Amino acid sequence: MRLVVLVGTLAACGTGTNDRAGKPALAPSVESGPGGAPRTPAPRERASFQRLHMTERFADLLQMERALVAGELDVVREYATALALDRTDADLAAWSAELAQMREAALALSEARDVATAVRREPVLAVACARCHLVAGAQLPISDAGPPPDDGTTSMRMARHQWAADRLWVALVAPSGTAWRDGVAVLADPPLPFDELAPHVSPDARTRMAELSLRLRALADAEQSVDDLDRWAATYGDALEICAACHALAR
Ligand code: HEC
Ligand code: HEC
Repeated sequence: MRLVVLVGTLAACGTGTNDRAGKPALAPSVESGPGGAPRTPAPRERASFQRLHMTERFADLLQMERALVAGELDVVREYATALALDRTDADLAAWSAELAQMREAALALSEARDVATAVRREPVLAVACARCHLVAGAQLPISDAGPPPDDGTTSMRMARHQWAADRLWVALVAPSGTAWRDGVAVLADPPLPFDELAPHVSPDARTRMAELSLRLRALADAEQSVDDLDRWAATYGDALEICAACHALAR
């Protein structure tokens, strides 16, 4: 299977994490743009085309995650194609092997024929980003905004799920163990009562939703202390698969 081959190739670059323990975030997170839209990056001291493109990539990948969770494969494929074909980063030539791996991963994602395949290939792409950040010694700004409060409603719980999925994603791309633990901690919350979650679905669908929600929690529980990039990628894919499966039942 292609995915396994890719992960294996990327794994050869070695793992590690990029945390800056105790330091405040360098910039507000990209994910805070209105309606999830990519924000125009503010000019900064070390502003460069390299940075600008990175910020776009960051936003693109986040949009891919949103689309995967919502089951919108076409959107994912469009973003992935754009990323695979992008040739604007002449400054990245120093890391041409890593760049080639990122493009290969983006191309594989752009060719995914179903959501189940795409949720496996998107994390491979995120790991390809991370491999270059490790090699290049790049430090990614990570927002220190916490999760939305849990008031027991479905929409707040889903906002927390979204926040957690974003943290796992940033953890992969940076890579960052702190962001990883933040994300899994929120996903390990006890599930909501199911009649509240989706009052309109059939009893059968509700039973399957209950199973999915327990699986998500068990997954998060098991991952609290894991510190391995490839394992993170697999778990992130598992989580997105569960999100997408439950949303398909709720429709
Ligand atoms: C070939 C190497 C390479 C690849 C591949 C790569 N990056 Fe980067 N990235 C860098 C470097 C180098 C920097 C540091 C740039 C700087 O400090 O000006 C960086 C910085 C960043 C930043 C921080 C920008 C900022 O505002 O400070 C983000 C976000 C980012 N990358 C996202 C991504 C995403 C998402 C991907 C994958 C889709 C990706 N990168 C793939 C090399 C890479
Ligand atoms: C057990 C089922 C279940 C799981 C698992 C689940 N969701 Fe949801 N989600 C729902 C339901 C039900 C809704 C309500 C909207 C609907 O009917 O489609 C929803 C809605 C959402 C919304 C839209 C919220 C709003 O207020 O419009 C987001 C964002 C979301 N989920 C994110 C996630 C993410 C990210 C994950 C995985 C980490 C996830 N969900 C896992 C059941 C689930």
